[in-house]
Amino acid sequence: MKHLLSIKDLSQQQLLDLLALAKTIKANPAEYKHALEGKSVVMLFEKPSLRTRVSFDIGINKLGGHCLYLDQQNGELGKREPVSDFAANISCWADAIVARTFLHSTIEELAEHGTVPVINALSDLYHPCQGLADFLTLSEQYGDVSKVKLAYVGDGNNVTHSLMFGAAILGAQLTVICPPGHFPDGKVVCEAQELAAKHGGKLILSSDVEAIIGHDAIYADTWLSMGDSTPMAEIEAKFKPYQVNSQLMQKAGAKHFMHCLPAYREVEVTAEVVDGEGSLILHQAENRMHAQNAVLVTLLS
Ligand code: CP
Ligand code: NVA
Repeated sequence: MKHLLSIKDLSQQQLLDLLALAKTIKANPAEYKHALEGKSVVMLFEKPSLRTRVSFDIGINKLGGHCLYLDQQNGELGKREPVSDFAANISCWADAIVARTFLHSTIEELAEHGTVPVINALSDLYHPCQGLADFLTLSEQYGDVSKVKLAYVGDGNNVTHSLMFGAAILGAQLTVICPPGHFPDGKVVCEAQELAAKHGGKLILSSDVEAIIGHDAIYADTWLSMGDSTPMAEIEAKFKPYQVNSQLMQKAGAKHFMHCLPAYREVEVTAEVVDGEGSLILHQAENRMHAQNAVLVTLLS
């Protein structure tokens, strides 16, 4: 494993090893406090962040490493100088790059032209660190994740793509329910279906909300991702039947609710559900750090 650009690049064993290592680091933080000693990580963010930025910064610190945050207030990546020069220069000083970019191709370019590991901290296509934290959370709740029935409801986006790859590789069941015209990327669906067939996973796509019946956990994300300038008024009516509320949770028979955050209350999910008893949102947020630390330790030590 040289980079973490997408969960699809991981073998089932690599994915299981990362989840196991995350649990070990979470349970024995003192044993890893020198794991990144002498290592520096540069974090490049083209988009805003709370969880990703803070969990990487504090996580790297807990592993004994140093991190430097570069926002793009001086212009987006590739404007002042080519992304390739950026990657080559950073590789002269840093031991890894964590990047959140608009275009996934920018992250690929960083990996291609740098000489150090690159970790995708969210792109338009994928959010692998989120997916790892989510499957870590599910494995804490359910033990064997291949037995979990998860449903994602809403816009087919970067988070959906990473959940699809994770579920497929882990042999889990994932039902993706989206309004017509808002399904996940077709190429990603094909790749995920191939991985599901190989590993015994089950991926179902539907625009029928009734497909929610019989799931353990329901996952929602914003209807409009960062960088999408579509006015909410334009899509609201189409998405409204896909709002996760108590009735939908009951229909599903689901015990748990998941969301990568930030959550927009009374939009994609009601406050009653996101702040309710079965909500795993803070477990997911906490696990971002442990999952990412497992990635950093795997790539850097
Ligand atoms: N879930 C997540 O990635 O949150 P941030 O955008 O705040 O980093
Ligand atoms: N799909 C969302 C995830 C935010 C963490 C976005 O890309 O904005």
